Amino acid sequence: MKKLIDMIAEDVKEAFLACGYKEEFGVVSLSNRPDLCQYQCNGAMSAAKQYKTAPIEIAKAVVERLSGSETIAVADAVMPGFINMKVNEEFLAAYLQEMSEQEDCGFEKTKQPLTIILDYGGANVAKPLHIGHLRPAIIGESIKRICRFAGHKVIGDVHMGDWGLPMGLVIEGIRERQPDLAYFDESFTGEYPEEVPFTTADFEKIYPEASARSKEDEEFKKRAQLTTMKLQNGDAGCRALWNHIMKVSVSDLKKNYGKLNVSFDLWKGESDAQPYIPDMIEDLIARGLAYESQGATIVDVQEESDTKEIPPCIIRKSDGAALYATSDLATILEREKLYAPDRYIYVTDKRQEMHFTQVFRVARKAGFVEPETELVFLGNGTMNGKDGKPFKTRDGGVMQLEQLITDTNEEVFKKVRENREIPEDEAKKTAEIIGLAAIKYGDLSNQLAKDYSFDLQRFASFEGNTGPYILYTMVRIKSILAKYHGTGTEEKPVAINASIREYGEDEISLMLLAARFNDVIEHAYEETAPHKICQYIYELADAFNRFYHNNKIITEPDEMKRGEWISLITLVLHLLEICIDLLGFSAPDRM
Ligand code: ARG
Repeated sequence: MKKLIDMIAEDVKEAFLACGYKEEFGVVSLSNRPDLCQYQCNGAMSAAKQYKTAPIEIAKAVVERLSGSETIAVADAVMPGFINMKVNEEFLAAYLQEMSEQEDCGFEKTKQPLTIILDYGGANVAKPLHIGHLRPAIIGESIKRICRFAGHKVIGDVHMGDWGLPMGLVIEGIRERQPDLAYFDESFTGEYPEEVPFTTADFEKIYPEASARSKEDEEFKKRAQLTTMKLQNGDAGCRALWNHIMKVSVSDLKKNYGKLNVSFDLWKGESDAQPYIPDMIEDLIARGLAYESQGATIVDVQEESDTKEIPPCIIRKSDGAALYATSDLATILEREKLYAPDRYIYVTDKRQEMHFTQVFRVARKAGFVEPETELVFLGNGTMNGKDGKPFKTRDGGVMQLEQLITDTNEEVFKKVRENREIPEDEAKKTAEIIGLAAIKYGDLSNQLAKDYSFDLQRFASFEGNTGPYILYTMVRIKSILAKYHGTGTEEKPVAINASIREYGEDEISLMLLAARFNDVIEHAYEETAPHKICQYIYELADAFNRFYHNNKIITEPDEMKRGEWISLITLVLHLLEICIDLLGFSAPDRM
C-alpha cells in the first residue's frame, strides 16, 4: 500500500501545480504542533521566494484547491504561509480497513531483493558468551528480521572467533589435565577417538584457567602460541582435538543464543577462511598491492581525502602468522565465491571501526568485491552499568550473558507474581518471555551506536518506555478480544470504516498512528535503525492505552461502533505483533 502521508502529499502537490507553482513545493510532514493539526506543508514559504509572491497568498490559493481532496478534510493557511491539515477521517478509516485485509498489514516488500550477508554475534569459541556479545547479537538479529521483512535475502553468519590463541590455550589446558591423550602423541598414526575427551563442566573451566595462567606463566604462554601455530599449520592431533572443542562449543553457543531468540544460518568462523589466505597474500604481493615493511606484509589504505591517519593494513606478521584483518579479507573472498552478496553488514563493537575501515579499503583496492557492492559497518555502543562505566558483576568481574538473563528473569518473576496469582511454573515461563523483552527493548530502543546504561529496575518495569509495557498493552488487547469473542454473540467482523460517524480524539490519534506502520518500517530498514520501531510501538501502545481508558470497548452499546473498535484494536495488536517480532521477542497471553 502507498504510504498515507504520500497520498496526502500527492494531493498537495497537485494543488500547487493547479495554482501554477511547481509541485516540488508540496512536501508534507507530520505536524510538529499536533494540537493544531495532523500534517503540515511549509512549501509556500519556499515558493514565495521563487515566485515573488507573499507566502500567505500562495498558501491560501493552495488551500482553496484542496477543498475537493479525498485525503484532506481540513486545510488552513496560517501566517506567514503554513498550510495546516487534518486528514479526511473516512479516508483514514478506509485506509486502515485495507491495511487489515492486506498481507503484512499493507507493507510492500521490495521489488529488487538483495542478497545480504549479515555478520553478527561474533562469539569466540571456548569462551562463554559475556555481555560484550549481547548487543551485536540482539541488534544483528533484529536487522536480519527487518531486512527479511523488507523482502531481501539475508544470510546470517555468526562468524566465530575459532582460530586464534584461545584455541592454543584450550588445547594446552587439556594437555595439562590429560597429557596421555593420543592427540598429543607425535608418533600416533591411527584414527583419533570419536568420543569427546572432556565433560562440558570441565570444558567451561579450561579456557579461563589457561588464560589466567598464560598471564603469569610465560613458558605456558609460549607453548600455547606454538600449539596455535601447529593447529594453523594442520597438525593432525591438534586438528582432531580442535574438532571436539568446536562441537562442544557450538552446541553450547547455540543453546545460549537460543535463549536470546537469536539464530544463525551459518555457523562459520575464522577457520573457514584459512584455505584462502596463502593465495590471497601471494596475489596481493604479485599485484604490487602488498609489500614488506619491517618484516611484516602490509597494504596501504590511506586515501587523499582522509583527514586523519589510516594506518596500513597488516596482512601477515613477521613470524608469518595471519591476523584478524587477514581472516576477514579471506572471508570476503569465500563469501564472494559462495554467495556473491550485494551487501555486507557487520555488526560489532564500534571500537572495531578502524579494523573494518582497513579491511573494506583493501577489499575495494584489490577488487575482491564489485564496485557497487555495499560494505557496511554498524558499530554498536557499549552497554554500561548504572554508574555509566562498562557493566560489571557485583564483585567487579565480567558479567556472563547467562547471568544477566537469569537476573532479569528473576526480577520479572517477582513482578509477575505480585501482579496476580499464577502457578509458579507458568510464572517462570511468562517471566522468561517478558525478561527477554526487557533486555532486548532496553537495548534496541537506543540508537545502536550510542552507549547506554543497563538498568534492571527500569527495563523490567511494566510502566514507561519499556519492553514489558509494550507486552502489557498487547496482553490487555488480547484479553479484550478474548472477552469479546468469548461472549459468542459476535457477528461477522465489522469493517473499521463501516459507519460514518464522528470519531473521538483518542480514536483518531490511535488510527493515525496505526496508519504510519509502513512508513516506520521503511525508515527502520533504510536507516538500519531498530530504535525507530521501538519508538513507534511505544507511541502506538500509549495511544491505545489512552483510547482504552477513555472508552468502554466491551460494554459500548452501539453494536456497530463496538465492532469497528474491535477491528481497530485487532489491527493494532497485529501491528504490535509484527513489530516485536522484528525486534526479536514475543508476547505472552497473560501477564
Ligand atoms: N569475534 C570477534 C570479537 O569477539 C567479533 C567478530 C566480528 N566479525 C568479523 N567478521 N570480524 O571481537
